[in-house]
Amino acid sequence: MALELAHGNRDLIKALKIAGIAGPYNVVDPWQLQDEKGEVRINAGGYSAVPLGDRYPELIDFVVRYLRDGNSMGLPQQSASQWRGELEYRLIEKLSQFAPSHADSQIFFSNSGSEAIESAIKFTTHYRPNANYFINFTKAYHGKTTGALNLTANPEYQRQLRRPALDVVTLPYGDSEAFTREVDRLGADNVAGVIFEPIQGEAGVIVPPAEFLRHVDEICKRHGILTIADEIQTGLGRSGYWFASIEWGGMDPDIITLAKPLGGGLTATGATIARSRIFKKMLGGLDAKHQSNTFGGNSLAMAIGLKSLDIIEDEKLVERAQRLGKLGAKRLDTIAQLAPGLITDTRAFGMLFAAQFAPITPTKNIIYGPKKLNSEFTGLLALMMWHKAGVLANFSLNAHSAVRLTPALTMPDEMFIDMFDRLEAAAIEHKNSWRMFMNTPRKTVLKLANFALFN
Ligand SMILES: Cc1ncc(COP(=O)(O)O)c(C=O)c1O
Repeated sequence: MALELAHGNRDLIKALKIAGIAGPYNVVDPWQLQDEKGEVRINAGGYSAVPLGDRYPELIDFVVRYLRDGNSMGLPQQSASQWRGELEYRLIEKLSQFAPSHADSQIFFSNSGSEAIESAIKFTTHYRPNANYFINFTKAYHGKTTGALNLTANPEYQRQLRRPALDVVTLPYGDSEAFTREVDRLGADNVAGVIFEPIQGEAGVIVPPAEFLRHVDEICKRHGILTIADEIQTGLGRSGYWFASIEWGGMDPDIITLAKPLGGGLTATGATIARSRIFKKMLGGLDAKHQSNTFGGNSLAMAIGLKSLDIIEDEKLVERAQRLGKLGAKRLDTIAQLAPGLITDTRAFGMLFAAQFAPITPTKNIIYGPKKLNSEFTGLLALMMWHKAGVLANFSLNAHSAVRLTPALTMPDEMFIDMFDRLEAAAIEHKNSWRMFMNTPRKTVLKLANFALFN
């Protein structure tokens, strides 16, 4: 940690260290991590990127064999790759099972979710060169690279952009009338694409009415506006569906982005799937070099992606996410009922869970600082509370006082139940947010306040 404090994102590590949640952690088994003091916790963190758990034995065995068998890393990119080809085939086969119109779609691989979004932006602007606007939705999270950040609807992060790289109109998520009105106002020919998460993750698991997604699809199809489904958190099983926008939302999106689970919790892979005619518009003929990266589609990442899909399929993890998701949603609801002064709302969809915490001070009380700081502190204290109770959770990047749980889809039933038992015991002990604040050691609170105000 000393080296991180010297040369890394020092202030982030400093804040986590004050909160006592900085790690580093070692793997006990795919679902539990141990800190340096020897304390073991159930891992419900990982921001949806750990679908199988950490170091899932079947995946590790496969990778060891893969490396031992003398496979090339596939870094001479100007060549065909059997691994890449197989993953492309498998993803398109799976997708077209639910959306037959994608049978001849094509895939561009990259190294992160944000990069997958960057490619989606480029495909869209090449396909509709005369349409200036993108539409996104309130609290959307699509990443923080420059293009993706234009579509991440959060002024806190967007302040870094001196001037927008894209013309983006942000609309309330789930409001069909507002959507139709705005498309009419802008003129459909001026709208290049609409980007959305079928269920918003970093916004704290926000589920829109399914009719809304169908409505967006219908309007866009009518006018030729491209629909971009960001399935980076929801896709490949976590939502209880392979592709939530299609199977649950009833859509037929033109572009689909995937990332997190595609790396099996072991590597970083982003994928942008586009209809062939859209793909060709940017990468046709000699223009095939107009989007590229050094590591995207490397054979190791592709092999891991393929094996992860196999495991998700063979172990029926999509169905498992639905079953455990329902159980978890009920448990979380009960916890909120037992401690209404602490948790004011719960939301769940498959294995995406969020608990909305009551602010530690009333938000209208200006003496205790601005709303944002209050909300960040609330989220951090809630993370600390559950960490102490033996569960690692996620801070939400676009809804700071909503703490999220994204356990592995393979987590054994007993451990899943044990996790909710721990969350419940801590919630009952603290009862309300003020008590959660008062139960935090004064020294820690003062250090955090000092960090927030004077760093
Ligand atoms: C829906 C969604 N899109 C895009 C991203 C960005 O992915 P990455 O952090 O891999 O760049 C995220 C990350 O949380 C996400 O949840």
